[in-house]
Amino acid sequence: MTDVSSRLIGALRREKVDRPPIWLMRQAGRYLPEYKKVRAGAGNFLDLCYNSDLAAEVTLQPIRRFALDAAIVFSDILVIPHALGQVVSFQDRVGPVLEPLQSNYDVAALSSSGVRDHLQPVYQTLSRVKAALPDSVALIGFAGAPWTIATYMIEGGSSRDFAKTKSWAFGNPANFQKLFTVLEEAIADHLIAQIDAGADVLQIFDSWAGLLPDGAFQTWCVEPIGRIVARINDEYPEIPIIVFPRLAGVRYAEFLKLDGIAAVSLDQTMSREWARDHLQSALVVQGNLDPVYLVQGGSVLEREVEKILLAFAGKPFVFNLGHGVMQTTPPDHVTELCSYVAAWRP
Ligand code: CP3
Repeated sequence: MTDVSSRLIGALRREKVDRPPIWLMRQAGRYLPEYKKVRAGAGNFLDLCYNSDLAAEVTLQPIRRFALDAAIVFSDILVIPHALGQVVSFQDRVGPVLEPLQSNYDVAALSSSGVRDHLQPVYQTLSRVKAALPDSVALIGFAGAPWTIATYMIEGGSSRDFAKTKSWAFGNPANFQKLFTVLEEAIADHLIAQIDAGADVLQIFDSWAGLLPDGAFQTWCVEPIGRIVARINDEYPEIPIIVFPRLAGVRYAEFLKLDGIAAVSLDQTMSREWARDHLQSALVVQGNLDPVYLVQGGSVLEREVEKILLAFAGKPFVFNLGHGVMQTTPPDHVTELCSYVAAWRP
């Protein structure tokens, strides 16, 4: 159950808060020496995700160090293909490597029925973190959206142009929807289980949404997310959901037509003026500092933070980056950023 003493939940419910809440995508991770220490002793990256003790510890590390308004559970969007039975690994300096899906046969072999069992350790992490957090710090659960997860499942990792995924989607949409049906069910189950385990807020990451051409954006980004959100709302109407359709540009406005979304997270390429005029009256906006300003720090960072607060802070707003914290970020710059936002009064 949520608690209104949380600034993040208050802002997402469009209640009056003393100042904008702040949390950061990838606030736990390799820019923190204490993370690197735990990571080095944990084995591979997925072992860390499935070790509830260590995953809870690294979730809490940024909360101990910085005045953030939310913790995001330490896990990854690619635990879903792993739970569906695909071979997934993370390789140093390469990133995720998956045994790519090749055909209809591969889709038929996927089943969402074991997802909740497989992902029990993630739910245990959430319960542990929830018990350790004060009510003022909200707990965020998350998942990838079907499109972004599908790109990794079909390309076998990161990709430049997503040609294989797009060929499948455009050439055989009925079969591609079969893959999506499995993903939608698994993702909705996973998000609902995270609320059961203590998540106060959910975020859905569609990191590659902007790569969809006009026309396909509705079918493979907005509608699948809409079906997932509808299922969550059926069970937990009071849990705020944030959607991050990265690089979607003016197509962020498509989310105004979907019921049940509290907020959209803006990437750093979005025009703030446009977002304020077209989105902010109906949706809470979150964002959108370029992570490189956080690497930079100092007066350059302060100036950019002020621009964002001036643009958005008059209406319901959550301060965040436009994408994840970079590995080269000096932790002291995060302290600075939090103090700028904490000092802000609209
Ligand atoms: O602090 C948090 O934000 C929570 C944890 C979190 C991770 N990944 C941990 C992680 C979250 C929310 C994610 C989301 C995620 N994972 C996304 C969506 C957001 C985005 O970045 O666009 C995507 C696309 C992934 C897939 C993924 N995981 C990639 C491409 C990589 C390799 C790139 C890299 O930075 O290494 C990962 C690995 C990963 N996920 C790390 C972390 C902390 C680094 C791996 C390590 O510590 O060895």
